[in-house]
Amino acid sequence: MKLKKHTTHISNVLVIGSGGSGLRAAIEAKLAGVEVTILGKRNKEDVHTVLAAGGINAAFGNLDPKDSWEQHFADTMIEGYNIAEAKMVELMAKEAPQLVKEIDEWGANFAKLPNGQIDQRFFGAHTYRRTCYSGDYTGRSILFALIKKAKELKIPIHDAQYVTELLVAQGSCFGAMTFNIKNGERTVFLADAVVLAAGGHTRIWRKSSSRRNENTGDGFYLGLKAGCSLKDMEMVQFHPTGMVIPEDMAGTLVTEAVRGEGGRLFNLNGERFMAKYDAKRLELSTRDRVAMANYTEIIEGRGTTNGGVLLDISHRDKDYIIEKLPRMYRQFLDTLMIDISKSPMEVAPTAHYSMGGIVVQPEDHWTGIHGLFAAGEVTGGLHGANRLGGNSLAEILIFGKRAGAAAAEWSEKTLIHKRSKQVIQSAHDKIDSFIKNGTEVVRPLQRQLRNIMWKYCGVVRKESDMKEGILQIKELKKALQYIDVRPDSEGFQDLMLAFDLEGSIYSAEATIIPAIQRKESRGAHQRSDYPQTVHEQQLNYHIKLDSNNKLNISKQPIAVLENELREIIRNTKAIENFDGMLLE
Ligand code: FUM
Repeated sequence: MKLKKHTTHISNVLVIGSGGSGLRAAIEAKLAGVEVTILGKRNKEDVHTVLAAGGINAAFGNLDPKDSWEQHFADTMIEGYNIAEAKMVELMAKEAPQLVKEIDEWGANFAKLPNGQIDQRFFGAHTYRRTCYSGDYTGRSILFALIKKAKELKIPIHDAQYVTELLVAQGSCFGAMTFNIKNGERTVFLADAVVLAAGGHTRIWRKSSSRRNENTGDGFYLGLKAGCSLKDMEMVQFHPTGMVIPEDMAGTLVTEAVRGEGGRLFNLNGERFMAKYDAKRLELSTRDRVAMANYTEIIEGRGTTNGGVLLDISHRDKDYIIEKLPRMYRQFLDTLMIDISKSPMEVAPTAHYSMGGIVVQPEDHWTGIHGLFAAGEVTGGLHGANRLGGNSLAEILIFGKRAGAAAAEWSEKTLIHKRSKQVIQSAHDKIDSFIKNGTEVVRPLQRQLRNIMWKYCGVVRKESDMKEGILQIKELKKALQYIDVRPDSEGFQDLMLAFDLEGSIYSAEATIIPAIQRKESRGAHQRSDYPQTVHEQQLNYHIKLDSNNKLNISKQPIAVLENELREIIRNTKAIENFDGMLLE
């Protein structure tokens, strides 16, 4: 069989995604002695991890000696509303201190206390100060430390590679098909094992803390097409504080570190309204509660004319603000000429994090497809129905490392690897099918999808809205058949956008379908038609793609909590915030 022209590249482990979890996976695989290749869409120094701001959690107890991995575990489980995967949470809470220390030594250079220990700040719903940080650019510090380490280990990072397909034959993943976004050149990256670390899908909401062309759901769709299941897709975290103006910055993150450093929320009447929603924890309540509070104030008419509430840190000293929140200080000065040491910030909820994702085994992040592992935001399970701020940066290090080690081990064990020319040819055919002159332009369609998701499946949802959303998404799916994709002086951007749009459409459907099924409110999933949590309904929804490209949903019971872990929760301080659903 004669295949269409492409370059072939071979390594033991292929990592898709050059963000924090991909890099950490690659480093671990390389340290295990196998050859590794990393693929990224964006410039490696400008991947989504750079946007992670406020910090990374590890129960060092440097300021609050009573903190412990057990308390971190209990806080995360309780605030995940009992659908988080306990084993994953346990691993994260236990391993975070070691990996945070390691990344600090690799150059992340976290803020230190006078005694040389890592400083820790409060983040919402953590019982103790647990969040380690570098100002408000913690993700960037971690990313740059990982890039430095990868460079020392001579791990190649290929930028501008768009992965169109995971190559799977007889249930076994043998690599990926890509095209180069600049020149269209196609490459078949063959590997014994693949780690998918391609991020989430929160860019498909109109207000999003993700930038253009990132977190479009392409990673979920790659997983679905390869045969993986997705779980908890309805659990989308709306961060309470995104920028409101200027229009082109709407949704941009205003870090939780502002509230961690003492920031207060006010409505237009000057009321510090969090007292009504969580009198004890106020602005440091859970993200879902603060997001709902901001949303409620705004829709009930107590917001600003721009549709926000006010976040104020001006009671803190200017030097303190500039030391702890340098990026926020610059962001408001550069975009709005607002000095946040004098004036409040206008903020409103913004789509921030995909808590659902590919189903993986907790220990090694194996997806169930031979040779295919996944790590980071593309996976589901750790956060349940509400993620605690600072847990995602811990997640990328811990489970990136675990997935990388498992991929390397798989590679070492693999004696014969099956490859299929037919599968490679189909991947070529798929790319070819998108390159054509048509009547529909992709970017406006992507914009329509973002509007649909914001309007019909946003912070608060109801069945009739979501059903309308599904109908409108189906229209977009039809339009996808008539898209206009032609390489031009900008390269193969349109082709990338076309693949992104397809991934976004499937990810949107994979979100709305379980969101309709989950007839209750739980954590980030708030239903105006079902406002109560149904304690008996402790389950996860799984989504799979069938051979007709249709998404199917199934209910999965959550694993019974081991007695030992149950006791940990009973005996920790977080139990004070617990409303009775978890331990019955
Ligand atoms: O607000 C923030 O700095 C975000 C942190 C996180 O999502 O973990």
